[in-house]
Amino acid sequence: MSLLELKNVSRVFGKLTALEDVSLEMEEGELYAVIGPNGAGKTTLFNLISGFFPATSGEIRFDGVEVTRLSPERRVAAGLVRTFQITEIFPELSVFENIRIGVEAQLGCSAQPWPSRGLARRIDRRVEELLAITALSSQGGRRASVLTHGDQRVVEVTMALSLKPRLLLLDEPTAGMGRAETQHMVNLIRSLHQEQKLSILFIEHDMDVVFGIADRISVLNAGRVLATGTPKEIAANPRVQTAYLGEAA
Ligand SMILES: Nc1ncnc2c1ncn2[C@@H]1O[C@H](COP(=O)(O)OP(=O)(O)OP(=O)(O)O)[C@@H](O)[C@H]1O
Ligand SMILES: [Mg+2]
Repeated sequence: MSLLELKNVSRVFGKLTALEDVSLEMEEGELYAVIGPNGAGKTTLFNLISGFFPATSGEIRFDGVEVTRLSPERRVAAGLVRTFQITEIFPELSVFENIRIGVEAQLGCSAQPWPSRGLARRIDRRVEELLAITALSSQGGRRASVLTHGDQRVVEVTMALSLKPRLLLLDEPTAGMGRAETQHMVNLIRSLHQEQKLSILFIEHDMDVVFGIADRISVLNAGRVLATGTPKEIAANPRVQTAYLGEAA
C-alpha cells in the first residue's frame, strides 16, 4: 500500500484549472520531488494534499485512509505536515519558543497556560532534541528575525518536525538561498530522510538539488502530470526536455 495516493485529483479556481486529473503514488520512505515551471500547480498540489484547499474532484489517500475532505488539523494529526513557499515562522519569538509552539501543539497542551513542572521539562527536552536534529542548538536563544534566511528556513523545517510528520511536504526549501545555504538544506533533507527515516515530498526549482537527492520525480506542467520516474528516466524523457528541462538548464 502506498503512503500517499492521489487519484484523478483536480482543482478549479473560477475559469482556471490549476490541477487536472493528477494521479500519483508515493511509497513510505521515499524522497520524492515535484518539479515544473512557474504556475504549473505545484503549490496547489500541496494545498490539496495538506487540506488548505479542498479538491474540486478526485481522491487523496494517506496511509490507506481517505483524507480528501479532512481539515488541515486532522491531516497534521495523521502525520501529513507541510512547510510553505514563503517562510512562516514567528519572527519576534526566539528559535526555542518557535519550536516550543509546535511541540505544545503536538502534545495537545497549547491551551494549558501553566503546564506541570514535569510536562514543562518534557516539552523543553523535546525542543532541545529537535534543535539538535537540525543543528540549531546554538541558535535557540536568538530571536528568529535576526537569523539568516537559510537558518529561518531550517527553523520552519524544525517546526514541521515538531508536529511528528510521517510525510513531510517541503515547498521550495532552498528558494532564495545561496550555494552554502542550499547545501546545508540539502544535507538536512538527506539526513531527515536517511537518519530520521522520514518520507519527504518536496517542490524544488534547483535541478542540481532535485537530481542530486530525489528517489523519484513527478513533472507537473500546466496542471497535469507530464511524467513520473527516477531521475535517470526523467532526464532522458524527451517530453520533459521540451516542456521544462531544456528551458531550466
Ligand atoms: N487561491 C488561488 N486562487 C486563484 N488562483 C490560484 C490560487 N492558487 C493558485 N492559483 C493559480 O493556480 C495556478 C497554479 O499555481 P501554483 O501556485 O500552484 O503554481 P506553482 O507551480 O506552485 O508555481 P511557482 O513555481 O511559481 O510557485 C496559477 O495560475 C495560480 O495563479
Ligand atoms: Mg509554488
